Amino acid sequence: MKVLVTGGAGYIGSHVVEMLVEKGYEVVVFDNLSAGHRSAVHKDATLVVGDLLNKGDLEKLFAAHQFEGILHFASHILVGESMEKPFKYFNDNMAAIWNVLEFATANGVKRFILSSTAALFDDPERIPISEDEPLKPGSVYGETKYMAERTLMWMDRIYGLRYCALRYFNACGAHPNGHIGEDHHPESHLIPITLQVALGQRDSLAIYGSDYDTPDGTCVRDYVHVLDLAEAHILALEALGNGPSRVYNLGSGTGYSVKEVVEVARQVTGHAIPTVETERRPGDLPRLIADSTRIKRELGWAPEFDNLHVIIETAWNWHQKHPNGFEE
Ligand code: UFG
Repeated sequence: MKVLVTGGAGYIGSHVVEMLVEKGYEVVVFDNLSAGHRSAVHKDATLVVGDLLNKGDLEKLFAAHQFEGILHFASHILVGESMEKPFKYFNDNMAAIWNVLEFATANGVKRFILSSTAALFDDPERIPISEDEPLKPGSVYGETKYMAERTLMWMDRIYGLRYCALRYFNACGAHPNGHIGEDHHPESHLIPITLQVALGQRDSLAIYGSDYDTPDGTCVRDYVHVLDLAEAHILALEALGNGPSRVYNLGSGTGYSVKEVVEVARQVTGHAIPTVETERRPGDLPRLIADSTRIKRELGWAPEFDNLHVIIETAWNWHQKHPNGFEE
């Protein structure tokens, strides 16, 4: 099966591409390399450098390839930035998915996987959070994923495009082969920043708020390994071949506070990792933990990395081998 992966040079996209290639899919990565890295793309995948905001680029792409499925990762991803630059997020994230869907539907593509988010669940009524939780984006970033999910509902209704929206909680870790991992510029995510302190690239970790209503006062998140996420994409892609559209919440089901994550990172790295408690970061929620019962029951998703120590070890392996990320 030939599939298109938009944003396939990015963190989660590149791990999914690697798994698709290993499973025998023919993979075309389409990426403008604004956040992704050329060397993150598996050598057996075809990289097309282009922009989803440029319909001319898409015209060439779809003229050259007939895709059976599309996995859409390309997007701006930062909650905080989306509240400072809302139009960047509304304009780019929506135009990107609408453009790719216009070409997908015109070219008879019948399967579409959306990279969605736990940022749809502001102030959840129940924790762990299942797919029955009312959708309430807490940021412009979350709103763009909500609009993307709504758009897909219409694509299914109008064109019969079968889709699966995968709402990741906190993606983390790296491929154990050490070749690909997390490398954002600027980096804003907890685990990579913590490991940069251990590498001596930063003096300390700022803990954003220690007065939350959680056991130790710091925010609790559900950290799910990027390869477990990758596995879920393959299962979803296969299930769409003979089943309806669907949505799934993807997490490990276990919550760790910021302080707990730092403690595990200290054990893994052997570094003291100094911390400084600072103000809360706007938009952060106290607790986000996934209930992933549905995808386990319906698709047999069985996450392998259910231990934060092992997850951070895979990230540490990547950071040690690539202290400057992909820039070498
Ligand atoms: N944190 C710190 N210090 C830092 C960085 C993060 O204390 O230097 C804290 C944050 O306040 C938060 C936790 O660590 O409580 C995790 O923060 P991340 O930035 O790693 O991740 P987020 O939970 O903010 O966001 C991630 C993705 C989003 C996605 C969201 C869904 O980046 O794209 O998960 O849960 F929408």
